[in-house]
Amino acid sequence: MDKKITIAIDGFSSTGKSTLAKQIAAHMGYVYVDSGAMYRAVTLYAMENGLVSPDHLDREALIRNLPDVKLEFRFNPELGFGEMFLNGINVEKKIRTLEVSNLVSRVAEVSEVRAKLVEQQQHMGENKGVVMDGRDIGTVVFPNAELKVFMVASAETRAQRRFDELTQKGEEVTYDAVLENVQKRDHIDSNRDDSPLIQAIDAIAIDNSHLSKEEQFELVLGLVKEAAQL
Ligand code: CDP
Repeated sequence: MDKKITIAIDGFSSTGKSTLAKQIAAHMGYVYVDSGAMYRAVTLYAMENGLVSPDHLDREALIRNLPDVKLEFRFNPELGFGEMFLNGINVEKKIRTLEVSNLVSRVAEVSEVRAKLVEQQQHMGENKGVVMDGRDIGTVVFPNAELKVFMVASAETRAQRRFDELTQKGEEVTYDAVLENVQKRDHIDSNRDDSPLIQAIDAIAIDNSHLSKEEQFELVLGLVKEAAQL
């Protein structure tokens, strides 16, 4: 008998969480939720409304405007996962730029933003059968998740992966700028007061610096089967 479980995948930026989470979700027939996309979409909203820039964040105005920020994932069968829509517009491409990456951790520090997104995330996972990746999924969003994975890799490995990803998409970035972003986000995400990035006590840490995508998938699939008692 299939028992549906909740799978939380947390970790530092660009550790390949979403690749792994998508593979596991597809294999298990589970829903995949990219919680980072939601923080990125709120950041895009703040950028487009002049509420955030590299040296400024208008917290009060952002909090006041939160009721006007409507986020939804719309499943794209060609891609096999849900794309992020902000107020009815597909922002999947826009939210992945380095410009958004450079501002997102500041927006993600705002407790009111977190409360709104966490509520929506918990709602999406209410029937189990969900794989969600982020920073606080195993600690705050789903503290009772049956399986918690914490992904780790060296900053250089992560920056190289993200650099390759962005340049493949045609974005003009330097490796150094990506590395700086990865390190800055690690620092802000790990040191914020509300829901900092930490490994849950019952999470299994996986360093994938030297693992191929296939090796990583097999390893985690084994853990999923164990947790789901399949
Ligand atoms: O994919 P990448 O590792 O670049 O990051 P992401 O998952 O898209 O998340 C972008 C940012 O959103 C993170 O650096 C955090 O600041 C924030 N975030 C968060 O605070 N909590 C989450 N559950 C997910 C993301």
